[in-house]
Amino acid sequence: MKFTFAKPFVPEKGTVVITATEGPELSATGKELDKKSGFALTKAMKAGKFKGKGGQMVSIFAPHNLGIDRLVVAGLGKPADLKVKNFETLGGKLYATLANGNDATVALVLDALEGCDIEVAERSARVALGAKLRSFRFDKYRTKEKKEAKPSLKTLRLLAEEGTKARALFNELDKVADGVFFTRELVSEPANVLYPASLAKQAKALKELGLKVTVLGEKDMKKLGMGALLGVGQGSARDSKLVALEWNGLPKGKEQEGGPVAFVGKGVTFDSGGISIKPAGGMEDMKWDMGGSGVVLGLMKALAGRKAKAHVVGVVGLVENMPSGEAQRPGDVVTSMSGQTIEVLNTDAEGRLVLADALWWCQETYKPSIVIDLATLTGAILVALGSSMAGLFSNDDELADDLFACGESVGEGVWRMPLGDDYDKLIKSNIADMKNIGGRYGGSITAAQFLQRFIQKDVKWVHLDIAGVTWSSADKPTVPKGGTGFGVRLLDRYIADHHES
Ligand code: BES
Ligand code: MN
Ligand code: ZN
Repeated sequence: MKFTFAKPFVPEKGTVVITATEGPELSATGKELDKKSGFALTKAMKAGKFKGKGGQMVSIFAPHNLGIDRLVVAGLGKPADLKVKNFETLGGKLYATLANGNDATVALVLDALEGCDIEVAERSARVALGAKLRSFRFDKYRTKEKKEAKPSLKTLRLLAEEGTKARALFNELDKVADGVFFTRELVSEPANVLYPASLAKQAKALKELGLKVTVLGEKDMKKLGMGALLGVGQGSARDSKLVALEWNGLPKGKEQEGGPVAFVGKGVTFDSGGISIKPAGGMEDMKWDMGGSGVVLGLMKALAGRKAKAHVVGVVGLVENMPSGEAQRPGDVVTSMSGQTIEVLNTDAEGRLVLADALWWCQETYKPSIVIDLATLTGAILVALGSSMAGLFSNDDELADDLFACGESVGEGVWRMPLGDDYDKLIKSNIADMKNIGGRYGGSITAAQFLQRFIQKDVKWVHLDIAGVTWSSADKPTVPKGGTGFGVRLLDRYIADHHES
């Protein structure tokens, strides 16, 4: 998708979108066109029960006297209620409505909007972002798709004042969208294509954006004592990897207060369950069990792309969890890099084993004061929160609140879940320092307790369980069904709001 930003004028051909607020009350351009067309808009709005509510839309084909092929009136709702998010939603819905229309170009006229305190440049840029985010399509393996079946919409023209400013704003947002797309692509790839080494290669390619990328292989990890991570990958024909990406966008001589901010991602490129094998139905979903690492890579791409003025590191533990004659067995005891021993009672609770070593190595190597991990960690988080929000666990109220606020503002909701000694007791082992599963209940919490045992003193930590939000089975305004990229925008916002001066 391409976007152009130009001064408002009234186009006389093609597909044109104008807006109306609740009432319905047409925008200035809308009123002009209504009059010129002999009140075709008024009639269409009435016939379509259009009240100008947010998300409502009415199309008029070939309206009289205007020369236009298709005129769309898009509802905005009440001006005073409008938030930045509403304009992204508008862009997404417009894309969905018009992508398969007759025109490769669509023009949207954004007139002055009385009672709305969001600047016009911001409004234009957000509409463009929403349309861009909705336009994602993973179609590389469709070799027989007819041209007519592919979206025809290629360019959205935003006709509004302050076009130069809108363009500048959009260029920044577009870098974040690039990160989101990267994550969505990674989670969409099948596991025969995306495995630890090929995922590491994708990470390495980010070097061209100025990121420092380090890849550790199994030999390196063995030397470091990463028995927990290596145990998970032990049954796979694919070698495990640990990848670190570093972005330092601070001016020379300046340092991030308290060390870099670190993000750690679970990268299980396929989770069969191992010897504790999963049932066949739905097992294909486990290609996106590397979702946490996908978000970390997408985020690093976004931060480097927009040259964020912050020092950030991303670490991803990449393994494939497979059953084989060499696979880890239920009951095995492994020693993690931290020195703590783990009784592996279920080889399907593998994400926490991978994160245990990735988290420890990250803290030893970069000495961060803030660590945020992301993982498609438990099915139990789906039971608790469904697929609208990610579960958030934290040892720091302020950090938890900050992330909650960021989630609200970008439309990626997170909901705080509890931690505590009572839950921690549930992972006591009879023969090792801990076991990798808790009891029947509170599965997401016991998983988080397990991770917390690998967080060092004075480190502020958040764990996001994204198992419910990484993949969407239905289209949403700015997220087509499939890989969502959930987390990239949230964490990019967190860095922008709290770590860039
Ligand atoms: N990758 C899964 C969790 C998952 C489930 C992600 C559904 C996305 C959708 C994880 O490795 C897993 O298998 N967890 C087990 C843990 C259990 C064995 C303690 C689970 O949730 O059932
Ligand atoms: Mn598993
Ligand atoms: Zn898993």
